[in-house]
Amino acid sequence: MKIAVIGLGFVGLTLSSVLASRGITTIGIDSDRKKCSKIAKGIPTFFEPNLEKTLKKALKKKLIITNKLYSINNCDFIFITVGTPEKKNGEIDLSFIKEVVRSVGKLISKNKKKPIILIKSTVIPGTMKNVVLPILERNSKKKAGKDFGLISNPEFLQESRAIHDTIKPHVVVLGGYRTKFMKKTEKFFSRFNPNVPIIITNHQTAEMIKYAHNTFLATKISFINQIANICQGIPDTNIDDVANAMGLDPRIGNLFLNAGPGYGGSCLPKDIKAIINLSSKLGVNPTLLTAVEKINKQQISHIVTLVKQNIGKINGKKLTILGVAFKPGTDDIRGSVSIDLVKRLLKLGAKITIHDPKALENARKIFHDNTKYVKSVPSALKDCQCAIIMTQWKDYERINNKIIKQMAKKFIIDTRRVLYNKNLDAKYYAIGLGQKI
Ligand SMILES: NC(=O)c1ccc[n+]([C@@H]2O[C@H](COP(=O)([O-])OP(=O)(O)OC[C@H]3O[C@@H](n4cnc5c(N)ncnc54)[C@H](O)[C@@H]3O)[C@@H](O)[C@H]2O)c1
Repeated sequence: MKIAVIGLGFVGLTLSSVLASRGITTIGIDSDRKKCSKIAKGIPTFFEPNLEKTLKKALKKKLIITNKLYSINNCDFIFITVGTPEKKNGEIDLSFIKEVVRSVGKLISKNKKKPIILIKSTVIPGTMKNVVLPILERNSKKKAGKDFGLISNPEFLQESRAIHDTIKPHVVVLGGYRTKFMKKTEKFFSRFNPNVPIIITNHQTAEMIKYAHNTFLATKISFINQIANICQGIPDTNIDDVANAMGLDPRIGNLFLNAGPGYGGSCLPKDIKAIINLSSKLGVNPTLLTAVEKINKQQISHIVTLVKQNIGKINGKKLTILGVAFKPGTDDIRGSVSIDLVKRLLKLGAKITIHDPKALENARKIFHDNTKYVKSVPSALKDCQCAIIMTQWKDYERINNKIIKQMAKKFIIDTRRVLYNKNLDAKYYAIGLGQKI
């Protein structure tokens, strides 16, 4: 068996590394030459636990990295994992998908093999039927379901546990017609992800399943953030105890109930925008989802207000941002609320120092010389007038009074409550905690 994976980002590089490390001949393809040469040397282009190890094993075994799309020739499965970012109006940008699908169509027109093309990228419901399928058939002059298979296969991995989720996802969703291609794909996944439920449905439903997942997760986060803000107004109330108790109810579940500065990342913000956009076009008022987005934006405004209330005018003040990765365990800053916060504070004239154990280089690509980048927590806090903990890195649990002593003004905003149990010689605000009586 030979498999091609087109687009070696978070999803594609993880998938191709896992496939080849299991001994399946895999061609990893990316249009970015520099990315390809780094990956071919065993160097991942982003940080993800266990990825480097898996990639190196894969390269030793069965992984070939190339920027030549024609390498898909004679592959049994072709996974498409290119990005689907948002346009300025919130609509999904399908240009990468369209470009790849056009080229794949032309290439398979000469193919004797009948490949199965799987779209892993998140695409808005209707994309497979109305966009991908017609482009493929037009360019290949072949028929889907007869000459090649076309299957929606949305990806659910979480960054910081991408390898784990690729090996053991909670579900495999396969959308398309029930053809021999679907049977072959089902067989493949039952071996690749043994004991994982496989849901077979049509294209549109598969596409919708992915959006329903992500919008629900965003809803959970905005819900708990709203409750956290209410808790903050009630003396001695603790959002984590509220969330832990709720999480024990099997109808609710304990994940994504961690109050904080709002959801970010490369998926939730863009996916919720895309579904709001689609919903409006369909004439369905997306009342709940619009509120979810609004609450998310308000979290950052709350933090800015809190800073102003405590240090007065922000202009010229030295502020430290602890954590810019959108979550711990990754260096990804795409859609990070911490990055938005830095932008807002810079506009207000703040002098910003950034600390992050993994994402400093990515932050530097955005802010260049407009902020300071510091590798140690004590140095980051030295002489600052306010420190804001944004990402739940373990490093911040080690902040103590010796480090705080070095701050010019002892004021900490802890959006993740990592220092909640410590007796700190500092003015301390945490999202979701009512002031101590
Ligand atoms: N990152 C996640 O956690 C995650 C989780 C689930 C689903 N998804 C979805 O999966 C898709 C991919 O996400 P990602 O984060 O891996 O994206 P990414 O931006 O990290 O990677 C996409 C890759 O595709 C490459 N590419 C673009 N055009 C190409 C072309 N014509 N030929 C070959 N390569 C090309 C880019 O160079 C890039 O390396 C998106 O639709 C995303 O919404 C992402």
